[in-house]
Amino acid sequence: MSIEIIELSTDLIPPTAELWHAGWHDAHAAIVPDELTELRTLDSFATRLKKYAATTRIAVRDGQVLGLCVVLKDEINQMYVSAQARGTGLAADLIQNGELRIRDAGHETAWLACAVGNDRAARFYEKRGWVNARTETLRFETQDGSYPLEIWRFEKTLN
Ligand SMILES: CC(C)(COP(=O)(O)OP(=O)(O)OC[C@H]1O[C@@H](n2cnc3c(N)ncnc32)[C@H](O)[C@@H]1OP(=O)(O)O)[C@@H](O)C(=O)NCCC(=O)NCCS
Repeated sequence: MSIEIIELSTDLIPPTAELWHAGWHDAHAAIVPDELTELRTLDSFATRLKKYAATTRIAVRDGQVLGLCVVLKDEINQMYVSAQARGTGLAADLIQNGELRIRDAGHETAWLACAVGNDRAARFYEKRGWVNARTETLRFETQDGSYPLEIWRFEKTLN
């Protein structure tokens, strides 16, 4: 069966949170402070997904969640695919869906934050026409208040 990109429904929040939790730790555990890693529990991802469900799209095949993309205004706020889906082109389809949603909402430029040192993600964004605009410190949402982290800010002009 082919892959569909669909809205996030309540019943698919648990598997989507598991995917996000696993992907976050794959990409970040080695490059961010342990203090932040300890805050990134499975529950914390489920809580944030409930909050952002309306602007989340997921990639699904045979009922299995393979990726997620959260858009907040002009930002690709989250971009994750499962380990098995990496290198397959699925991430490109998902981010394109997010870029179109941002463009259709009237924004000319989109941005996203990528933790400094997440080289695979950075390479992926560059391949998709995103430009590393600068390094800056942003504060990220946690269940314990916000946490400062150095990130690469990527931007893309949307045609
Ligand atoms: C980031 C992500 C969505 C990209 O999707 P993907 O399917 O892996 O992307 P692609 O395979 O098309 O592109 C990744 C590129 O990085 C390269 N790459 C792999 N490991 C790398 C590394 N350690 N350092 C640098 N580049 C690396 C790949 O070879 C590929 O480049 P190529 O096509 O020129 O060979 C996916 O890897 C993912 O979900 N990662 C975990 C979560 C994450 O980091 N999300 C982003 C948060 S900002």
